[in-house]
Amino acid sequence: MKRGCALTKQEVVKAILASRPVVSSGAGRAFAPANIALCKYWGKRDEELNLPMTSSLSVSLDGLGTTTEICLRGDVDRLYLHDRELAPDSEFARRTSSYLDLFRPESSAGFEVRTRGDIPVAAGLASSASGFAALILALDQLFGWALDGVSLSILARLGSGSACRSVFDGFVEWHAGTRTDGMDSHAEPLNVHWPEFRIALLTLSDREKPVGSRPAMRQTKRTSTLYTAWPVQAAADLRDIRAAISDQDFERLGRVSESNALAMHATMLGARPPVLYWLPETVETLQRIWALRGAGAAIYATMDAGPNVKLLFEAKHEAAVRDEFPEARVVTPFERAEEA
Ligand code: PMV
Repeated sequence: MKRGCALTKQEVVKAILASRPVVSSGAGRAFAPANIALCKYWGKRDEELNLPMTSSLSVSLDGLGTTTEICLRGDVDRLYLHDRELAPDSEFARRTSSYLDLFRPESSAGFEVRTRGDIPVAAGLASSASGFAALILALDQLFGWALDGVSLSILARLGSGSACRSVFDGFVEWHAGTRTDGMDSHAEPLNVHWPEFRIALLTLSDREKPVGSRPAMRQTKRTSTLYTAWPVQAAADLRDIRAAISDQDFERLGRVSESNALAMHATMLGARPPVLYWLPETVETLQRIWALRGAGAAIYATMDAGPNVKLLFEAKHEAAVRDEFPEARVVTPFERAEEA
């Protein structure tokens, strides 16, 4: 890929950490929430730095995400997921170690990383987003950098694009930016509280997805003629969703978010060969949601790079959702704001 005079990941890290301490405080520990995009990120303008083609907007799932502890130990990385050590050649361990390479005080230093999360890894429930966000927040503590939110968001993006949004709570917009070094491509919280807003997670399959979001985005962008319409549609949807949030107009928010997700999946179907994440249960679930809507309940769907469906609704329809989908996990993204 032609990248002009863009920086490498290592150069971005160096620029952000210049004049920051490199002294370990012993250990770092942090939590980051998963996030669900209402206006999706799909397609990169720079694959090295995870710079997106379009801006996107998500909501962070209060209390549902990843907790990571990190310290420097030995000369090889040791990674534990739910207290089980991962084989160094597993996909998860390789991705984590190559991200940690960006932050080693010496090339021979090893990290011990203990991660636990309440989201199935790689099932399209944004586990890499909360994973890399928790990792950079834990590294910030370990090394005592005390970085601001923008810098943390940029560094999280280097691990996984959508991770830059998981550094913040509530509604979060990721500005695509235009710079080749990506210093203007970071997330920003909207600071809007919407206590009645609900998301329900329906796990239809927790198997690893057959194709990761990175190759799927690349294939879509390169081969799908439908992708040429995506940046224009995504920009219009983002404007609509922003306005719906500021007016707390749920029906508009749900309608545009659902259409945005379906349009993203349509660009994938237009790829050659096609990318299809859906299972028969995905379609069946969509039809059940549309039937509820037909009966008057404002319940909408969104889907990411996987077969699972997330439902968007307000508190007044929570009973209807629980009735129809008793297995769904209902999340209250603004719970803490509600208590405050
Ligand atoms: O950050 P990645 O590579 O996991 O990409 C995530 C892309 C989607 O989840 C499909 C959409 C989004 O904006 O989160």
